[in-house]
Amino acid sequence: MSYSLCVMAGDGIGREVVPPAVAVLEKLLPGLRVVEAEAGWECFQKRGVSVPEATLDRMRECGAGLFGAVSSPSRKVEGYRSAILSLRQQLGLNVNLRPVRSWPQVSPKPGIDLLILRENSEGLYSGREHWESDGVAIAERVISRAASSRLAECAVVVAQQRQARRITLVHKANVLPLTCGLFRDSCREVLQAAGLGERVDERLVDVAALQLVQQPEAFDLIVTSNLFGDILSDLACHWGGGLGLAPSLNWGGGLALAEPVHGSAPDIAGSGRANPLAAMLSAALLVRHHWKLPELAVRLESAVERFLQEEGGIDYGCETTRQIAQGVLQRL
Ligand code: NAI
Ligand code: MG
Repeated sequence: MSYSLCVMAGDGIGREVVPPAVAVLEKLLPGLRVVEAEAGWECFQKRGVSVPEATLDRMRECGAGLFGAVSSPSRKVEGYRSAILSLRQQLGLNVNLRPVRSWPQVSPKPGIDLLILRENSEGLYSGREHWESDGVAIAERVISRAASSRLAECAVVVAQQRQARRITLVHKANVLPLTCGLFRDSCREVLQAAGLGERVDERLVDVAALQLVQQPEAFDLIVTSNLFGDILSDLACHWGGGLGLAPSLNWGGGLALAEPVHGSAPDIAGSGRANPLAAMLSAALLVRHHWKLPELAVRLESAVERFLQEEGGIDYGCETTRQIAQGVLQRL
């Protein structure tokens, strides 16, 4: 079997954390074909587009990708759309898997092992924002039965893989009865048809946030819409040791794109202090869910676990990236 990987390092620390993640994949999969592609803010400034057609073609051709991070200005820039949002929408990467687990030495609490499944293509990130009049701006929240059902179909697969004891649908249907109601009902239908109905419960997003802080070990699989998943996964990753250890996988349409949850971190870019574990653990998700090699994913995660245990956690000094990269590679 031959494996191909489309690598989009992007901007800022994306360029620093991606090479260590590629190195562990090359060690796990000798002969891995690695193809580089452009995406991000610098790419936009150079080419006028944040994701060139050639990048989409390479990603489709490889089937699997690794994305670092990109910078996006917090103001409207004509013609610019965040590269990762474009990739998710244009490639039909409908689902985002965001696991959070306790790691030795770095987690504030042991015994946490939860997975947030976030809808990845619509919701408030539909890109439909406009001025209604002077001083009034509108963002449209798009929820469809089709995308919600696809998310729930993925939840069925993942629930079976991890033998989930509880599947929590997170929404705000008391305030948004049409959109959140459609989301909740579509997900419930799919989960019920798969025989998982008894394990499904629901939480309103505000109380879910509180409970993720109070009692994170009570959660197993969380299924939620785009914006809620974005926010809750940053909150929950505190329990896994923070953004430097938070992995994710964009998944759908037969394609998968591994992506650390963090951004381009301009405050530390170029200093050598970026933690590459989020990118490495994202690579492990690719190995497990896309290439379907769970034993290799476990090998990588065990190497990370031993590294953290034996080195006493992470030293965010001036050589963090290099030390962690070497430490994990040696234990692989
Ligand atoms: P950020 O995730 O880049 O950084 C937040 C904080 O966490 C910073 O203090 C940073 O130094 C720290 N941090 C993040 N990753 C780290 C790592 N691997 N090791 C050590 N420390 C780490 O989020 P921020 O600052 O809100 O956004 C910066 C830029 O990134 C913005 O332009 C934003 O649009 C973009 N962004 C891109 C994302 C993506 O490409 N998927 C996701 C989130 C933000
Ligand atoms: Mg985020």
